[in-house]
Formats: sequence, structure tokens, C-alpha cells
Amino acid sequence: MANTILVGAQWGDEGKGKIIDVLTEEADIVVRTQGGNNAGHTVLIGGQKYVLHLIPSGILRPGKKCVIGNGVVLDPIGLVEEMDGLKKLGVKIADNFFISETAHVVLPYHRLLDAQREVRKGRNKIGTTKRGIGPCYGDKAARVGLRMIDLIKPDRFADLLAARVRENNAVLKALGAKPISFRKTLAEYQAAGRRLRPFVTNTVVLLNEATNQGRHILFEGAQGTFLDIDHGTYPYVTSSNTTAGGACTGSGVPPHRIDRVFGVMKAYTTRVGEGPLPTENAEIADLLHGMGREFGATTGRPRRCGWFDAVATRHAAMVNGIDDLAITNIDGLDTLENIRVCIAYRHGGRRYDHVPNDVEVLSECEPVYADFPGWRTSTSGVREWKKLPARARSYLKAISELTGARLTIASVGPGREQTMFL
Ligand code: IMP
Repeated sequence: MANTILVGAQWGDEGKGKIIDVLTEEADIVVRTQGGNNAGHTVLIGGQKYVLHLIPSGILRPGKKCVIGNGVVLDPIGLVEEMDGLKKLGVKIADNFFISETAHVVLPYHRLLDAQREVRKGRNKIGTTKRGIGPCYGDKAARVGLRMIDLIKPDRFADLLAARVRENNAVLKALGAKPISFRKTLAEYQAAGRRLRPFVTNTVVLLNEATNQGRHILFEGAQGTFLDIDHGTYPYVTSSNTTAGGACTGSGVPPHRIDRVFGVMKAYTTRVGEGPLPTENAEIADLLHGMGREFGATTGRPRRCGWFDAVATRHAAMVNGIDDLAITNIDGLDTLENIRVCIAYRHGGRRYDHVPNDVEVLSECEPVYADFPGWRTSTSGVREWKKLPARARSYLKAISELTGARLTIASVGPGREQTMFL
């Protein structure tokens, strides 16, 4: 496998965890490059379910190296819990796991400020995961963040934390929220720092040496294109670059080392949190929720659902430079008689073939639909592309062509074995 960036082509939750797990077979190293434990990747192996938030899903395959890159914001307490949970399930985390020295640390005041800002926004809230992601990236940009290299040096961490707690407690008090305890936070974080210290290293050098030696890297994207801080539906976005460029800045591997960009999209559309979703549809949401599908892996929130939006995925193919596509959750559409695909938007007498930047315009856009006949038979047991119903194949080919990239993987369920290569 060449060096591959994997990105979500929609609003996150495209089923990336499973596709990463499948592609990892051919990779030597899997690296997370952005986001934090706001992400939730679910992988099902032999009936055992693994939910990963920070650790790359490559950890589930023996012999693969896993890296948390410099672009990630890391909650050390959450990470230690995740490691302990995986170890209980028999997953080995030792000399196969590396954490960047320069990844920023999520602290309790980030989570409290995240929650406070959401409450204060009222109707205009973003619907964040309340994991402190925005405030942590905010501190990084303001150059007042604490990094893993600080966390693993107990004295330096204590000094830096004391100053940050003083400033943030003043803000929290002014907002009417409870201040945090410096002593308690220091003790908890120093304990987590001791556990994580053996894994902390210069991952930029590690990754570049590995590429020089011909090792293959899989860059595991979190969230999706329309949650990107620059290219998403701002302000209803997360605080990192979820698009392909973020994989380079978030790992220190230069762009000319990247061979391929893989986009993952569902056969329909979903979104968690607030913000525009042009093809949102109550009927398809009821259908999918009724099947027990489309509840968030991190927060358990029901996801908003809609028809496939080809305007959005075409835009995603453009900003990410998507070469190959994986389409997941095909089986979610198995019972439908008629399946709609949005091929353009209409707003104020104007037709849009790309996603408008103005979220107010986007939230008022009316989708222009094309209709496809449903296949009305179960696909979850199908293991070969040619054995998929002809109507399903036509639908999948059509949405790939509308997106403008090559269809390479079709997925009909969460299991590794429910994956077809074209
Ligand atoms: P934050 O990343 O917690 O600040 O949340 C900002 C927005 O991104 C909210 O709409 C979240 O629901 C959304 N979001 C964050 N992480 C994920 C994810 O892994 N999947 C889907 N949506 C996400």
C-alpha cells in the first residue's frame, strides 16, 4: 500500500473506523493527525465490538505501529482509560504505540469552557461533544497551551498548570461556573503523565524515517470534510482541519510523500450536532433509528439523517483530492422502494452545484433530487460486488460518478467480512 490519507467525505461518522481497519492490513503504521476524543471509531471483529476515541484503530492488528500525531489534542485521563479498556479486551499496547511530544493536552478547564460557551449560545449552540476540543485548539492558537512534552516533566507541568488554572478559574468564575482545583488536577494529570511517558517521542522524525525506509503509512482522519474548521459549515464545525491537508500538518509528513487520498462516505447522509444539513429527512431518520442505527459512538446522541448529498461529496472530492471511495452502510437502504439523491441545490432562483460558504444560504437551500429504484432485499450477507442486486450496483456507481472519484470498496455492515473490493 502507498502512503494513504483517509478522510470522511461528509459530516463525520461515515464508517471510517471499519475502513481504516480493513486498509490497515496493508499498512505498517497508522497515525491520527487531528481532533481528539470527540471522535469515536467503532470496529467489529469476530463479534467483539471495539470503540476507539484517540488510539488509532491499527492497534487492533498485531505488528502495526500506531501514532498519535502532533495535530491531535489529547485528554491524558481519557487516553489512559481507553488503553486500560483495550488491554482488558486483550489488545497489546506496548512498543507498538507512540505519542507526539508536541500534541496539546486537553485540561478540565477546556471541557468546562466548552460547556459554558454552548449554554451561552442558547439557540445558536454548535452541539459540541463537550470534550473541550474547541478551547484546547483555541489555547494552541493563542500560544498558551500545554503539550505532552510539558506533561511528562512534572515540575515544569506544575508551574505551567498553576498559571493556566489561575487565569481560567477567573474566567470560569466570571461566567458563574465552578472553578477547578489546581491540586486535584495536578495529581490526576501527573499520574496520567507517568503512565504515558514511555510512549511520548518525536513522532515527526519517527514517521519521516519510516517513509524513507519505504514503510507505508495510513493517515487516519477523524470527523468529516464539512466539520473542517476552514472548509466546513463554519461555525458549526470542529476546531481542526479534518480534510486531507490536515494529515500533513498534523503529522509532519510532507505533501509530496502522500500517494493517495481515500474518501469514505455513507450511502446516505448523517450529521450530529447543529448546523445545516440540506437533505435532512424525518422519514429516513425514523427508518434508520428504528433499525437501531445512527446513534453517536461518543455521545450516544441520535444522528440527524438525510438522503445522499452529491453536491456535498463532490465538494469533498475537490478539497481533499479524493482518488478512491469507500461507500458504507449500504444495507441501511435495503428496505426502501425509492431512493433520492441530491444533485444540486436551489436558493433564491439560483442553482448551486457547489456548497455555498454562507451557512444561512446553505440552511435555506432546497435540494434538487434524482430518484433511484430501491433493491428491496437484504445485502448484509453479500460478499462479492457482482452478487449485489443490480439496482444497488447502479445506485452505488451513480453516487460515485456524481462525487467524481473511483469506487473501490463497498461495505454492507460493520464486520470486516462485510467488505467488497471492486
Ligand atoms: P467538537 O468537535 O466537540 O467541538 O464538536 C463540534 C461539532 O463537531 C459538533 O457538531 C459535533 O457533533 C461534531 N463532531 C465532533 N466529533 C465528531 C465525530 O467524531 N463524528 C461526528 N461529528 C463530530
